[in-house]
Amino acid sequence: MDIESEIDQATQRALLDKVRRHTGIHMADRKWTLLQGRLRRRLQALALNRYRDYLAVLDAQPEEVGSFINLVTTNETSFFRTPRIWDHFWQQLLPEWFRQHRGATLQLWSAAASTGEEAYSMAMMCEEFREHHPAFKYQILATDIASQVLAVGKAGFYQGKSIEGLKRTRPEWLAKYFQPSSDGYLASPMLRSHVLFREHHLHKRLDGASRFDITLLRNVLIYFDEEGQCNVLENVRRAMSPGGVLIIGESESLTRLNVGFDFEQPLIYRRQEGAHA
Ligand SMILES: C[S@@+](CC[C@H](N)C(=O)[O-])C[C@H]1O[C@@H](n2cnc3c(N)ncnc32)[C@H](O)[C@@H]1O
Repeated sequence: MDIESEIDQATQRALLDKVRRHTGIHMADRKWTLLQGRLRRRLQALALNRYRDYLAVLDAQPEEVGSFINLVTTNETSFFRTPRIWDHFWQQLLPEWFRQHRGATLQLWSAAASTGEEAYSMAMMCEEFREHHPAFKYQILATDIASQVLAVGKAGFYQGKSIEGLKRTRPEWLAKYFQPSSDGYLASPMLRSHVLFREHHLHKRLDGASRFDITLLRNVLIYFDEEGQCNVLENVRRAMSPGGVLIIGESESLTRLNVGFDFEQPLIYRRQEGAHA
């Protein structure tokens, strides 16, 4: 079936608005071609040939929203992305936290976890740290708005580009924490037992009485406008313990935003102690 190629402006705008309404992601009009490309296959799967009919489906069938979110989000990630922050995590954050919180459990949050490589990177480092400090305890929450990527993380099964990166940079950890399985690698039960995957929309408050000591909110703020970034950062701040560490992505910065975090070094911020809970 041929899908229409000339789409009226009102339909384009309405679909870009849907992205914002369901994810908080701000897509300017010039992003239409990107969105169109992502939605095309979904129209084909639903045997629709007009984008405005897809809009009607989105309105009439709330269960379509999940597929829409899976399509419109950008989920690129990798193990130990941005080596500098992992050096800091290993050399400074883990030893510092352990010195100051004997007996407690380190609470970590991968707040836009995608397929889970970031969360399992934290888990591998925590496991290594535990080998040197048997009393060390930790747990990791990995959240994302997109159900499809979370399913990959939950399964803990990786192949292709993702696993190639780990094989190249830390082959000994791949052998230690993953089991070869058919054409990929499965995270060990030990690693998986420390990571809980859950759907969560960053523009909403995280429920429960969580108090995260370290939060990775990486390569997701870039998709929101300034108001959205402030809203997300306030929600994240509320879920963190005073003095907790926030790590962001390389193309992101909080310096212009007054959001209750102090700059510590590029990409690394600390939740202010005195800020209201
Ligand atoms: C580019 S990936 C970043 C993954 C990982 N943090 C990293 O830096 O490698 C961005 C992720 O943010 C998620 N995301 C986008 N909007 C979100 C929202 N409103 N709430 C939660 N997650 C969101 C996407 O689904 C995607 O998996």
